[in-house]
Amino acid sequence: STESAPENTPSDLVVVANRLPVDLETLEDGGTRWKRSPGGLVTALEPTLRAREGAWVGWPGVPDVDVDPFSEDGLSLHPVRLSAEEVTDYYEGFSNGTLWPLYHDVVATPAFHRHWWRAYVRVNERFAEATAAVAAQGGTVWVQDYQLQLVPGKLRELRPDLKIGFFLHIPFPPVELFRQLPWRTRIMEGLLGADLVGFHTDGGVRNFHWLATELAGATPDRDPEIVHVGDRPVRLGAFPISIDSSTLDTLARTDTVVKRAAEIRTELGNPCRIILGVDRLDYTKGIDVRLRAYHELLEEERISVDDAVVIQLATPSRERVDHYRQMRDDIELSVGRINGEYARVGHPAVHYLHQSLPREELAAFYLAADVMLVTPLRDGMNLVAKEYVACRPDERGVLVLSEFAGAANELTSALLVNPHDTDGVKEALYAALTMNDEEAGKRMRTLRRQVLDHDVDRWARSFLEALGVDVPDEQGQA
Ligand code: ADP
Ligand code: G6P
Repeated sequence: STESAPENTPSDLVVVANRLPVDLETLEDGGTRWKRSPGGLVTALEPTLRAREGAWVGWPGVPDVDVDPFSEDGLSLHPVRLSAEEVTDYYEGFSNGTLWPLYHDVVATPAFHRHWWRAYVRVNERFAEATAAVAAQGGTVWVQDYQLQLVPGKLRELRPDLKIGFFLHIPFPPVELFRQLPWRTRIMEGLLGADLVGFHTDGGVRNFHWLATELAGATPDRDPEIVHVGDRPVRLGAFPISIDSSTLDTLARTDTVVKRAAEIRTELGNPCRIILGVDRLDYTKGIDVRLRAYHELLEEERISVDDAVVIQLATPSRERVDHYRQMRDDIELSVGRINGEYARVGHPAVHYLHQSLPREELAAFYLAADVMLVTPLRDGMNLVAKEYVACRPDERGVLVLSEFAGAANELTSALLVNPHDTDGVKEALYAALTMNDEEAGKRMRTLRRQVLDHDVDRWARSFLEALGVDVPDEQGQA
């Protein structure tokens, strides 16, 4: 590890995201410590930015705290303060009660509240100001995700010298849905403040292009990946995000992880098959979908608990938002029902952990799992699917993957399912449980080639190159 530049030195590369890569946690004795933040954005960006010694502007995850900038293993971190009211209105409200469900195909109903929007505007301005104070003259700022869509526009006003990129980690919705937003034009104008706007898929690019030209007054170009705002070009592009594949591959080959994976199987009582789900506890993830499929296979006596057990690891998430509270209750009710009917003493059918596990432990679960069930109703990418593949140097294991995850565009050798079709999911799960080693191996080898070739460093590089930045590689060479 290297020491980064002191926190008060302007930075050539600044990432700005709602959250810092670490969350401040209050301990029982009243002390505090930093722990890794939840979610795929941090998983992807942390190794990328650390390798490039960048600065990261973000919220420390708790309300009403002032934290001075600090350095941590190659990264300089710049905390932005949010009040308790702003956490309610900007983060839980507009970001996660309006934008999150709207952008995920309204799988839950979005709420539109003017006071949430006002908080969103105010907080986005604060992030832009904090970023303007950190970025070096002529430097590059890379704005992340749906919580900060007004930052590019505001930052351009404050600092026209900067190169500004924006990347959306969640789906960019169909035009008809986006148009429901009372503040749709303001959001488009905010995003168009960037020099480059990136999405996971071509569909996102097309939706954005239509709205930019038809709604926000941008001029089209002959190139469908460029629009003009006045005389300034804005580039659009699809950049499917990924993971630090080789690090996970290496981790999954270590003695500790291999031993731990074997131990997990023993602890479960050596079932024939282990089915795994790993998610933030979010209603977009379709955890209910997979529980239903498993439950029906048990009911129909096509499988028994000795044949197959389920492990569902679920990181707590956004626990004060209503939809999340409701879905947690629903999931826990289903887990209780399935176990009530099918478990024996000492042998649950579904093992459910509402916990976040350390990376090494997670890798052991991936390595132990015969079938990985990834069934979101909608997902920008879904890194869990890629992590599973990276953790299988033994070339075993079967991935069942929703067509509605961005990852399905790349991981075409998975068993692809429509999560709205319970029978289809059920048949895919059964096929995965009974697949012969030869076919499973063939599929896994193809998946691994894809995931190991297209890692997160390649993603970051292609985005930054499209932004016109000279990209040093991970060793810091230009
Ligand atoms: P999202 O960004 O919506 O949460 P992703 O699948 O893209 O979804 O990323 C989730 C990230 O969170 C992955 O890196 C995954 O390993 C991690 N994660 C999810 N659940 C857990 C858990 N129970 N313990 C530890 N890490 C988890
Ligand atoms: C997804 C979003 C991220 C978010 C993460 C965790 O990955 O795209 O922007 O940080 O979920 O959610 P949270 O609300 O806890 O930050």
